[in-house]
Amino acid sequence: MEDLFGSAAPYYARYRPDHGPATTEHLATTLGTDGRVLDLGCGPGTIAIPLARRMKAVVAVDPSLEMLAEGRRRAKGVTNITWLHGDSTVLRALPPFEHVVMGRSFHWMDRRSVLVDLDELLPPGGAVALVGPARRPGGPWQPDAQPWQPVERRVCEEFGLDIHTAANSFHATGEHHDDVLADSPFSILGSQVFTRRLTWDVDGLIGLQLSYSYSSPARLGDRLPAFVKALRQALLDDNPTGRWEQRLTTEVLVARRPGR
Ligand SMILES: C[S@@+](CC[C@H](N)C(=O)[O-])C[C@H]1O[C@@H](n2cnc3c(N)ncnc32)[C@H](O)[C@@H]1O
Repeated sequence: MEDLFGSAAPYYARYRPDHGPATTEHLATTLGTDGRVLDLGCGPGTIAIPLARRMKAVVAVDPSLEMLAEGRRRAKGVTNITWLHGDSTVLRALPPFEHVVMGRSFHWMDRRSVLVDLDELLPPGGAVALVGPARRPGGPWQPDAQPWQPVERRVCEEFGLDIHTAANSFHATGEHHDDVLADSPFSILGSQVFTRRLTWDVDGLIGLQLSYSYSSPARLGDRLPAFVKALRQALLDDNPTGRWEQRLTTEVLVARRPGR
């Protein structure tokens, strides 16, 4: 199992925005609270921890041991999560589950083969829920453009870091999640979009950048201090107030089999 996120895990846990309480509530209402949910690609428990407070049980699976360690650390007092080291290729070896949630993780998997496996494993009413940036109308799947992005992209480029080189299945095929789902046994889709406003300072934006697999501390190696210095300087040159507003849009896409 490749660990793309290991060195990013502490930054991910601290700086990557969660999906917001309305998303958790929507998942609990849509999936029902008495089942066992698999959180596949759980990271540091971004979905698993708040969802476990509303559900009977959560199985949280990730290939990154560092991410799982962050999750266990943050889940103090939440006892109905089973944390397992694994990935999308070992679904048959997991304890049984009724629904699957994937937060910002489906694009890292062989999506069609995961859906074939889930069709075998999920009970008749089982749902596949994807949580992540909303698809832009007619445009590529990517987070909303944010005010600091041109500066961040320029600094990343100077360091040879490019988000589009991330070897994930969205970049490989250009296919959107909803198109992959529509062409699968889970072809009945429901979408709900939630929007929030967040405020960032410069340390937050640097931490956020280090939480991405393509610009993680491991990817930067001994260039990490130079990168942090350059990014800080460029961000503050561009916006000396040191405050940035973000409009964050999160989509919950729930897919079920026809007739359920
Ligand atoms: C962007 S993080 C998402 C974490 C969390 N679910 C969230 O919503 O913030 C993507 C996660 O997917 C995991 N991942 C990568 N490839 C995977 C695979 N093939 N199967 C399961 N998880 C995978 C990574 O280790 C990482 O923790």
